[in-house]
Amino acid sequence: MKLIVINGPSLAALGTREVEVFGKKDYDFLCQQIVKKAAASNILIEIYQSNHEGDIIDRIHQSYADGTTGIIINPAAFAHYSYAIYDALMSVPIPKVQVHLADLNTREEAWRHQNVIGPACNEVIMGRGYDGYLDAIDYMIKNNAEYTAEEIVKAQEGSESCNMSDKERLTLEEAKKAEERKKMVEK
Ligand code: DQA
Repeated sequence: MKLIVINGPSLAALGTREVEVFGKKDYDFLCQQIVKKAAASNILIEIYQSNHEGDIIDRIHQSYADGTTGIIINPAAFAHYSYAIYDALMSVPIPKVQVHLADLNTREEAWRHQNVIGPACNEVIMGRGYDGYLDAIDYMIKNNAEYTAEEIVKAQEGSESCNMSDKERLTLEEAKKAEERKKMVEK
């Protein structure tokens, strides 16, 4: 299994930002926890952080093409309004888990109660602090079905809601290549 963790804006500032909400442990600590858990579970993991919406969207598309089998995403404030990230997630037929450190529903600002990304994900975990990411890995271990190239192509055809252009759709040949790469990585 090959996972990517995508962290959105200002998450690299953990440890100093809003410590009363997120605590004093820094971003490196979070990354170490994730890497340790993945290593112990025999999972290949990449952690990507960006403050830019377009870069996050590009990384979502790329991760699918490079044989990644699951996406764990904390879109940070994009959770509240980025339909573009919602569309990008809908366009990749692999399991997705959305993670938030804090419980969005109990935050003071009303705009944080809206989560437009959630419906594009298989699971939403919030309010568990850094452990939420480890829970997301556990979710992937339990639910990360290994898709065959044929299943991926079929899933694309069946998903009318993702507005994929023909260019974005993987052909069977491309999906098979991704499958091969995935097998090589897992060896
Ligand atoms: C957050 C919640 C968001 O509302 C906020 O903008 C963040 C962090 C969380 O993990 O709790 O940046 O995604």
